[in-house]
Amino acid sequence: MVETTVRYANVTEEAIRTWLKNRLSEDRFMHSLGAQQKAIELARNFKFDQDVIEKAGMGGLLHDAAKLMTPQELLEACNTFDVPVTEDEKRSPQTLHPFVGAEMVKWEFGITEPDIINAIRYHTTGRAGMTPVEKLVFIADKIEGNTRNPLYIQKITALMNYRDSQTLDKVMLYILDSTITFLIEKRQIIHPRTIEARNDMVQSIKAHNRENLNQ
Ligand SMILES: [Fe+2]
Ligand SMILES: [Fe+2]
Repeated sequence: MVETTVRYANVTEEAIRTWLKNRLSEDRFMHSLGAQQKAIELARNFKFDQDVIEKAGMGGLLHDAAKLMTPQELLEACNTFDVPVTEDEKRSPQTLHPFVGAEMVKWEFGITEPDIINAIRYHTTGRAGMTPVEKLVFIADKIEGNTRNPLYIQKITALMNYRDSQTLDKVMLYILDSTITFLIEKRQIIHPRTIEARNDMVQSIKAHNRENLNQ
């Protein structure tokens, strides 16, 4: 079989997988493959075009590239790649793995496609104004079949209506709401981007409902 170079990168997918396997634990590698598979499956079910399907798959595969780095390594990488670090992030450097991962894949594979880079960057916090690729990777990360809780997967999958264009936003809202509730219960810090992402989903669902009423 001839391996072709992945679009948006300067290497083959096989090379990317080998690199990832060497950086991650067995579990985390399986999680990454699961996220790739799930992102592609969701994109296909929602009938996105091939471009979105490919970018979601690549984002899913690479989203946790920096997950196993130590706090020290993450902070050093931020310094090297000029990633700004807030005081909260300094206190919990693990929250930096999405941004460091994004810089690493740029550097390692020449991936600069904004959709892939941003899907990696915002896979834990979300943000306002997420693209379909970003949403697909965000959701796939939480419900991939290799390592995530089967009950949670079932719950989210039950919310999926592939004929409803608002489903991605509704599922995003459900996940963001449960994340925020969990963090409040645990008295943990909530990243402002998570609140912004949540509010953005509420607005977009409301706007869509208003449009439907006016039709
Ligand atoms: Fe992650
Ligand atoms: Fe993940």
